[in-house]
Amino acid sequence: MLTVVIFSFFLLLVAAFPHADVLKRAPPGIRFQTPKGTHPSLSFSKLAETSHNHQRIHGVRSKTNARSVAAILGAHQRQVGGTGYENITVTNAYGTQYATEVTWSGVPINLLLDTGSSDTWAIQRNFSCVDYAGEPVPQIVCAFGPSYPATFQYGETSPPQHMFIRYGDGEIVTGPMGFSDITLAGNLTVTKLQVCLANNTYWYGNNVTSGLMGLAFPSITNAYIGPQYEHDPGSQVEYSPLFTSMVSQGKSRPMFSIAIDRNSSSGVLAWGGIPPVKGLDRENDASVDMVITNLIDIPETAYEYSFYTIIPDGWDYDQKTDIKKYPYIVDSGTTLCYLPPYLASAINQAFNPSAVWLWAYMAYFTSCDATPPIVSLVIAGKRFLFNPADLIYRDMVDPETGLCMTAIASGGTGPYILGDAFMQNALVVFDVGHAQMRFISRPYY
Ligand SMILES: *[C@@H]1O[C@H](CO)[C@@H](O)[C@H](O)[C@H]1NC(C)=O
Ligand SMILES: *[C@@H]1O[C@H](CO)[C@@H](O)[C@H](O)[C@H]1NC(C)=O
Ligand SMILES: *[C@@H]1O[C@H](CO)[C@@H](O)[C@H](O)[C@H]1NC(C)=O
Ligand SMILES: *[C@@H]1O[C@H](CO)[C@@H](O)[C@H](O)[C@H]1NC(C)=O
Ligand SMILES: *[C@@H]1O[C@H](CO)[C@@H](O)[C@H](O)[C@H]1NC(C)=O
Ligand SMILES: *[C@@H]1O[C@H](CO)[C@@H](O)[C@H](O)[C@H]1NC(C)=O
Repeated sequence: MLTVVIFSFFLLLVAAFPHADVLKRAPPGIRFQTPKGTHPSLSFSKLAETSHNHQRIHGVRSKTNARSVAAILGAHQRQVGGTGYENITVTNAYGTQYATEVTWSGVPINLLLDTGSSDTWAIQRNFSCVDYAGEPVPQIVCAFGPSYPATFQYGETSPPQHMFIRYGDGEIVTGPMGFSDITLAGNLTVTKLQVCLANNTYWYGNNVTSGLMGLAFPSITNAYIGPQYEHDPGSQVEYSPLFTSMVSQGKSRPMFSIAIDRNSSSGVLAWGGIPPVKGLDRENDASVDMVITNLIDIPETAYEYSFYTIIPDGWDYDQKTDIKKYPYIVDSGTTLCYLPPYLASAINQAFNPSAVWLWAYMAYFTSCDATPPIVSLVIAGKRFLFNPADLIYRDMVDPETGLCMTAIASGGTGPYILGDAFMQNALVVFDVGHAQMRFISRPYY
């Protein structure tokens, strides 16, 4: 009798999280967490309701990919002495960041979309742009879009708080915090949101965006009490960031979704449901537990990310199947997919002709008219087929060899990344309320 009880208890634990063993093998400086859903579960068909609250996102190029997960992991691994993602920052031409327009207390403004951080900020008019040494340089060097012309709609926080955040390759943004209304998707207004109007930045901009919209969790917000030059952990205070506030104000169901378009470097972001995009195969959907990847062990405390992560069943490629389990971060700001080295190598060999590793780029290259293998990622038993056309970047040509970059790169010790090359093949639902990541296939034919 007792055995039965113990046995079923054990089963329950395993059933509750089937991949606990995978998550224990985290590389140095990485921690995985499995968040708990806060909302009663709903059937997928109910969840897959089309949302009327959606907005376009568009790709912007800049001189850095500092905010791509690959670059952030690279900088982090170098600091903690890991071996994954070395030198990926040198492939800086290959990150696409997505921008979207919001209305900030009545003023339209373009913000970068970031699912890895939580603070929302805009650059204020008289900001000080500084170089890596903190020395003032002309504002134009920071390359922001138009600065936000006004002050906080509801005044500053009391007592005064400031934001201090350090991004991937050392970019720093700081400024006072206060409260303003932010309108998304044309008419969805989050009232009295705590935001920052940055007045001091070390930033590599794109001349388009004027700030950033962070869609991660409250636990990694970066607000501090006290003067702006002080940000020790003791003075840090957590606050309710954009998406959390939107849900608590009843403006959105606790999920958002992103569809990245093919070819056009644009897409759609929907709040509370899925966007009305063409070509969804609603028969082919998958739901998996959401895992959160946290970066830890960093000397600077004010440098935190948490990434939406999944553990797929495995990969099918070239009539082979690989079912080893690894965590993969889902990131629209990273162009390529980063896989375990042995698997990246095997898939690249399956191109005809085989792709070769070029050190200068830390990526694989093959003939620009090569035939790619048939590759699919299997998630919760469902197959998500990569469009062969997405597996070779015909505009990323190495001038020395005339070869083109492939979409499958090596991710060292991980965690691995599903970038745009994957996201173009599926609508991705960040179902925060049920702690699930959901995918709906977008076949290319
Ligand atoms: C990283 O870049 C440095 C400097 O360019 C080089 O010496 C080093 O070998 C590179 N590391 C790897 C793993 O490529
Ligand atoms: C901002 O700069 C303008 C001109 O450079 C100046 O007139 C104004 O007083 C400044 N405002 C603040 C708040 O510093
Ligand atoms: C930024 O704002 C804070 C708080 O209002 C102020 O203490 C600081 O001097 C300002 N810094 C710059 C560079 O304007
Ligand atoms: C405003 O919201 C309603 C319902 O939430 C939606 O049907 C409508 O399309 C939205 N209008 C715009 C311009 O976004
Ligand atoms: C932004 O504009 C400045 C000035 O026109 C230019 O020098 C810089 O190259 C531009 N940066 C980007 C990323 O487009
Ligand atoms: C994408 O671009 C390729 C080559 O530039 C073209 O052949 C293909 O038709 C385009 N696909 C779509 C859906 O526009």
